[in-house]
Amino acid sequence: MAELVRNYIGGRWVETGATFETINPATEAVIAPVAKASASEVDAAIKAAKAAYKEWRLVPAPRRGEILYQVALVLQERKEAIARLMTDEMGKVLSEARGDVQEAIDMAFFMGGEGRRLHGYTAPVEMPNKFGMAIRDSVGVIGLVTPWNFPVAVPSWKMLPALVAGNAVIWKPSEETPAVAAAFVQVFIDAGLPEGVLNLVLGAGDVGAALVEHPDVRVISFTGSTETGLKVYTKAASLGKKVSLEMGGKNAIIVLDDANLDLVVQAVTWSAYGTTGQRCTATSRLIVQRGIKAKLTEALVERARGLKVGYGVEAGIEVGPLVNRKALEKVEHYVGIGRDEGAKVAIGGRRADIDKGYFYAPTLFTDVSRDMRIAREEIFGPVLSMIEVGSLEEAIEVNNSVIYGLSSSIFTENVNAAFRAIRDLTTGIVYINHGTTGAEIQFPFGGTGGTGNGMREAGTTALDSFTEWKSVYVDYSGRLQRAQIDNRE
Ligand code: UN1
Repeated sequence: MAELVRNYIGGRWVETGATFETINPATEAVIAPVAKASASEVDAAIKAAKAAYKEWRLVPAPRRGEILYQVALVLQERKEAIARLMTDEMGKVLSEARGDVQEAIDMAFFMGGEGRRLHGYTAPVEMPNKFGMAIRDSVGVIGLVTPWNFPVAVPSWKMLPALVAGNAVIWKPSEETPAVAAAFVQVFIDAGLPEGVLNLVLGAGDVGAALVEHPDVRVISFTGSTETGLKVYTKAASLGKKVSLEMGGKNAIIVLDDANLDLVVQAVTWSAYGTTGQRCTATSRLIVQRGIKAKLTEALVERARGLKVGYGVEAGIEVGPLVNRKALEKVEHYVGIGRDEGAKVAIGGRRADIDKGYFYAPTLFTDVSRDMRIAREEIFGPVLSMIEVGSLEEAIEVNNSVIYGLSSSIFTENVNAAFRAIRDLTTGIVYINHGTTGAEIQFPFGGTGGTGNGMREAGTTALDSFTEWKSVYVDYSGRLQRAQIDNRE
């Protein structure tokens, strides 16, 4: 067992009185004990962040950007080690864990570049000898609450824009992935980030709540379950805070009769069962036009049967475990609901045949109607529900009928159908001839409806969460000039 994973506060690794354990979901072995933060550590972290912010906000943004480039370089060196730790701690297969780290490397380079942009704008003003501009200002102390499914990538979408914009950060990662979080924080330390600018507090919901409730934390960026997200939102709103929320998904791939079947099978398998279905962008509905349904079902069952489930560090493994026992039981519960609702299990529908660990067999339900709970609620596991439709219009209507609106996709060779889908699908991300996962960091990431609150992560849009606009007027006329233009004599 590895040494104690500690909190990082004001430039020091800190032990606390209480501990919890981080577990490998494939082997059920304890990876390490973890120092659990309490409200007093959260307080200390916020104090440290406030103090560090005073200087960090004045560091020229291009210099802050250089530190982020350094983060990218250190992360590149440690990619393999962090990926390996990630597979052990949360279960995704090693190749996917590498992709998770790579996403943060890409983001660090991208946000490093923002150090020389952080564009504001100027506009003409009403009076002579006067100048106007709008600039992006830092906010202060930012609280980040992040999930275990992308334990490096998703935090990087928040941390890197927050830091380049001159804010100080308190990060509360999921209690499922504290060791990866500590390894990621070490990257920032070694890249030269000043003490106190990034702080790590470890623990469960109470630690996040302390952060959300603290008056000195003005922005909260949250990714996680809808249930927790709405609690965070309600509390933060009552305190007048800015919140960025990224919550559930019930993402669909639409397959029209003319689709390229081989491509569909590959894409569906990857998007539905990759990361064991535990992505907020995972495909959990397959909306299939009648004419291709039989062939597609057969091909998907065949492919799902061949998927290798197991410990993600072993060669050839394609699907890892669920993150913990509770997640496994949730999947079992929903499969039971699907059966009771009258859907048919075409493949899977049971735990995988492995002694230890939280493994579930990749599952496909057919004969699903759009009103069933398995077609509307987020399961967050390797469970795919196939819904048959007659037309493109019906497919789009079914796609848009759930409360979530993160990601959707259509497979067709018909350019007119593709463009209609782009126009009419109401999700925040739309894919053509590509599964519902695999968003790139330079574009806005987020969803409509119940997926979030209208904010977007990644891309330059991410800066909106972590900056305040400051409008600046400079009057160099030497006399009192009164706005507005209708006051003119
Ligand atoms: C998530 O599932 O929370 O688009 C994020 C994707 C990844 C990120 C997913 N780039 O699937």
